[in-house]
Amino acid sequence: MDIRAATIADSDVIKNIHLNAFPESESALVSKVAVDLLNIPTRPKVMHWVAEVDDVVVGHVAFSPVTVKGAGDFSGYILAPLGVVPAHQRCGIGSRMVKYGVQQLSDSGVNVVFVYGDPEYYSKFGFHADVAKPYLPPYPLEHPLGNRSDPSSLG
Ligand SMILES: CC(C)(COP(=O)(O)OP(=O)(O)OC[C@H]1O[C@@H](n2cnc3c(N)ncnc32)[C@H](O)[C@@H]1OP(=O)(O)O)[C@@H](O)C(=O)NCCC(=O)NCCS
Repeated sequence: MDIRAATIADSDVIKNIHLNAFPESESALVSKVAVDLLNIPTRPKVMHWVAEVDDVVVGHVAFSPVTVKGAGDFSGYILAPLGVVPAHQRCGIGSRMVKYGVQQLSDSGVNVVFVYGDPEYYSKFGFHADVAKPYLPPYPLEHPLGNRSDPSSLG
């Protein structure tokens, strides 16, 4: 399995990964968000990586830049979405993409990575809801759980 940075040329395959990975109730929205994040330029850049098995793209993860009011010189990102096609789930690909992305961000000087998702899943990677508590989201969350990881604490 290889991980590489995604490009705009991967738009269709990324769309299909999320259409297949997520439940039908969410898949259209998630795949649209993923493709929009790939195509809309931002500064700092949204970071995208894809996982390939035998030269076929089977997984995608994106990390978008976030700002924190009053935090001064702060570089933060939030992980979403993350998807692996069903035929390749439970083989460690999702884990490797999360760890790879967090490591790349850490190496480039990012201070903090947030995620909004299942604490049971994301706690495997060093994300903890407790450490996210001081950071208030800009709108009410449907599930009042945030997770934050200090990239330097990840192995
Ligand atoms: C969540 C997802 C990305 C995990 O990818 P994956 O490649 O299957 O994950 P891994 O093989 O690295 O598994 C990592 C761990 O999570 C567990 N896990 C994987 N998928 C899971 C699921 N759907 N429910 C609960 N646990 C799951 C695995 O058992 C494994 O645990 P272990 O390390 O204790 O054995 C993938 O199942 C997926 O695309 N799901 C649909 C989309 C989604 O929910 N995305 C995440 C929210 S944005």
